[in-house]
Amino acid sequence: MSATDRPDSATFDLTWLDLREPADRRARNQGLVTKLADLLAAAEHGADGLAIVDLGAGHGASARALAPHLAGPQRWILVDRDAALLAAASERLTDVVDAAGRPIAVGAEVFDLAHGALDEAIEGADLVTMSAFLDLASRGFAERLAEAAAAARALVLATLSVDGRLAIEPSDPVDTAIFDAFNAHMTRDKGFGPALGPRAPDIASHVFRANGFRVELGRSDWVLGPEDAGLAAALVDGWATAAAETDLVDRTALARWRERRAAEAAAGRLRIVVGHLDMLAVPTIR
Ligand SMILES: C[S@@+](CC[C@H](N)C(=O)[O-])C[C@H]1O[C@@H](n2cnc3c(N)ncnc32)[C@H](O)[C@@H]1O
Repeated sequence: MSATDRPDSATFDLTWLDLREPADRRARNQGLVTKLADLLAAAEHGADGLAIVDLGAGHGASARALAPHLAGPQRWILVDRDAALLAAASERLTDVVDAAGRPIAVGAEVFDLAHGALDEAIEGADLVTMSAFLDLASRGFAERLAEAAAAARALVLATLSVDGRLAIEPSDPVDTAIFDAFNAHMTRDKGFGPALGPRAPDIASHVFRANGFRVELGRSDWVLGPEDAGLAAALVDGWATAAAETDLVDRTALARWRERRAAEAAAGRLRIVVGHLDMLAVPTIR
């Protein structure tokens, strides 16, 4: 789960991933993508071209967003524990091309990243990507990933990790209590141990630097307006549900906030900012 995902479950339905994909696409940090593309273009790859492993791939959003910006040929392996999402991803990537307009090759692997060996999951990768995934994993996962990526000399691009910044305009006196409760809820175990939640960018940067990577962070905030009414309504609902589960907010105040905010979201009257950071980690010994 990511802070921008429905906080009531650690499973992800296709409807929700579809709802968030346009906002994710607008938010992705293009400066880091350009740097990544330049680094990969300057490096040597195997005979089959660039090997990319996408962790927690869901319905394939990372490949759709990144492949057209990177030189080819490209071979993507999508890794997720949810076979149905991977099946949807394979169907939805058939017309995706690399920067030169050539189709990308796509494979999928059902794999539990909380328990499986990460050196197996990323074997042969030049680049490891993930999107809206790191914040639901744990510090232990970040450490195992950094070790495996260092051993493989792979670059890592972890996009759309929440950093705890949340804002709604017009503001409401109960917002801060809801956001604090939601950020606390984000650190609950999603299968990897206590989740990194809003500290994901900070902790992962530290862990990757300690494993010999040069790390750069770039903002990838969601900025939602009237045209994102469906996503805004889903966020308000998810935040309220999570806050209720923490028991940190007065129940009556929470119920009234949910009602007010749901009506405003449906009417397209909210401007919402959800803070995210993208992280590019480059091994210093390549
Ligand atoms: C918020 S979704 C992000 C999906 C996709 N990367 C995107 O940007 O749309 C998180 C994904 O992580 C996957 N996931 C969660 N826990 C996992 C685990 N232990 N092993 C493998 N995948 C996992 C979920 O199935 C889901 O597809």
